[in-house]
Amino acid sequence: MKQKVTVVGAGNVGATAAQRLAEKELCDVIVVDIIEGVPQGKSLDLTQAAPIEKHDAHLTGANSYEASANSDIVIITAGIPRKPGMSRDDLLSTNRGIIRSVTKEVVKYSPNAILIIVSNPLDAMCHVAMEESGFPKHKVIGMAGVLDSARFRAFISMELSVSVENIHALVMGGHGDTMVPLPRFSTVAGVPITELIPATRIEEMVTRTRNGGAEIVSLLKTGSAYYAPASAAVEMAESILKDKKKILPCAAYLTGEYGISDLFVGVPVKLGAKGIEQIIELKLSAEEQQALKKSASAVQELVDAMKKMA
Ligand code: APR
Repeated sequence: MKQKVTVVGAGNVGATAAQRLAEKELCDVIVVDIIEGVPQGKSLDLTQAAPIEKHDAHLTGANSYEASANSDIVIITAGIPRKPGMSRDDLLSTNRGIIRSVTKEVVKYSPNAILIIVSNPLDAMCHVAMEESGFPKHKVIGMAGVLDSARFRAFISMELSVSVENIHALVMGGHGDTMVPLPRFSTVAGVPITELIPATRIEEMVTRTRNGGAEIVSLLKTGSAYYAPASAAVEMAESILKDKKKILPCAAYLTGEYGISDLFVGVPVKLGAKGIEQIIELKLSAEEQQALKKSASAVQELVDAMKKMA
């Protein structure tokens, strides 16, 4: 393949992302993990599936970063996932250390890459990656909104028995309990769901979307969601690799947009070959803007907490 993507973390999200990247024949894939043998073993296993799945993407596993050199994109999934009863914020200190060390290695070998961050707490980890990499803001992008919106879309599809392909949805804000699903901007074949579903039911679906990750954690008991998170990261990577310029909700570093500054928050962005090529500023109602502000302050709290850490 002409293009190259490194996935750091060969766990549930990372391995699934590697599989989807290869099976869509988007790029060659390097999988890096600290556990000896695991990225190599999973890459070999995926390579042996290639003749059946009919793709020619090359997969390479490694415990160091040499093989990742000159990647176009690096997807960072390294870190610990949450367990039942934990919030994403409980991962802050451990994953901060991991993202710091990973980012340092990544940029040494791929100074021109675009970083897609997946590790949680997502928005805070984007700050760590941007600080550690010194990359410009359009090259550090967090995966959250595509996942949260996909969850909302799935629930809308289940509610109305309509193809998921007809459904668009928008979830903005931080990737936590205060995220902001926006029914007004969520549509079925172009019709806002506010015209199709009673308000009280929409409210229940919004709540289920906000708790979408926790619902899966409590079912799995030993880890967190990975099929949909991997799909979401790969949709972002595909838009960049193919310069598709899709509008997708992603965590982006805001510098005044939506009245928010110096903070990663989920907003609709245009993703193309340069990374974030535009931040789309929607006209929000006072109530929506208020909810976004509240969500941004939850992110700010984590950023402040990190400043107090050694
Ligand atoms: N360098 C490389 N890999 C690392 C490092 C490191 N410093 N530290 C941990 N890892 C690897 C682990 O060895 C493990 O294989 O990260 C992988 C994480 O995989 P899982 O435990 O299966 O977790 P996963 O479900 O993939 O979630 C990863 O994504 O969605 C988020 O909240 C989730 O932060 C979590 C991350």
